[in-house]
Amino acid sequence: MTGNNSPIGVFDSGIGGLSVANAIYSLLPKESIRYFADTGRVPYGPRSKEEIINFSQEITQFLLDQGCKMIVVACNTATAAALPQLRADWPKIPFVGMEPAVKPAAQATRSGKVGVMATLSTIQSERYEQLMHRFAADVEILENPCVGLVPLIEAGKLRHPETTQLLDRIVSPMLADEVDTLVLGCTHYPFILPVLRQLVGDSCQIIDPAPAVARQVARRLEQHQLSAGENAEPDFAFYASGAHAELTNFTTILFQILESPLGIDENR
Ligand code: DGL
Repeated sequence: MTGNNSPIGVFDSGIGGLSVANAIYSLLPKESIRYFADTGRVPYGPRSKEEIINFSQEITQFLLDQGCKMIVVACNTATAAALPQLRADWPKIPFVGMEPAVKPAAQATRSGKVGVMATLSTIQSERYEQLMHRFAADVEILENPCVGLVPLIEAGKLRHPETTQLLDRIVSPMLADEVDTLVLGCTHYPFILPVLRQLVGDSCQIIDPAPAVARQVARRLEQHQLSAGENAEPDFAFYASGAHAELTNFTTILFQILESPLGIDENR
């Protein structure tokens, strides 16, 4: 079988979706990837639904122009705001989106209390409300919109005192309330996992949906007979809408990803 060696398009408001691209690459090493980071317009969290839909349409068109066979919306915020519109606009293109992993968290918690870290736009979305309704009826959810966290991560301040203090303010009230399961509802947050782990200790489970998204990508490729052939020689291209300074942070974090499976810089 020759397979389909066209690339998979992956996008996010910034570098966050690289945590997803990394999971796709780990699971599907034969697949080529085109990654778009909207670093010129990040963060999406405080933006209106209309704006996020417009940006997502523009980026999808750009990635399709690069010959992508599938689009992965590697952003919880853009998925919540724009995925139905994208599917309506391009009915023949398979899209994979993502949402906070509330279902596995509700199954995993023992204290019955789950913390959700996500952007304001995600928390206020209809999609999130439906998710709560379906899967979180029997557990208590403590949410935090993590205001200011995405810009710190975009600036590469993964282990900076400012980041640690902000995270401490976010998780301390959750821990005081006996949260034992934490959902990373934004693709930027896996990059601050070491600091978060230090703050919450081993008794709290932290759920990152990226591996589940990669498995969903694999299933959809198979369903649509779009998987790359066994002899494919994958290639990767990264695009960003931001200025040079943002691109520097972007490539720094990208190279961390390439060097370590989770892309974490221990010294930052
Ligand atoms: N990484 C994005 C998400 O998964 C959004 C971050 C932002 O731009 O506010 O929600």
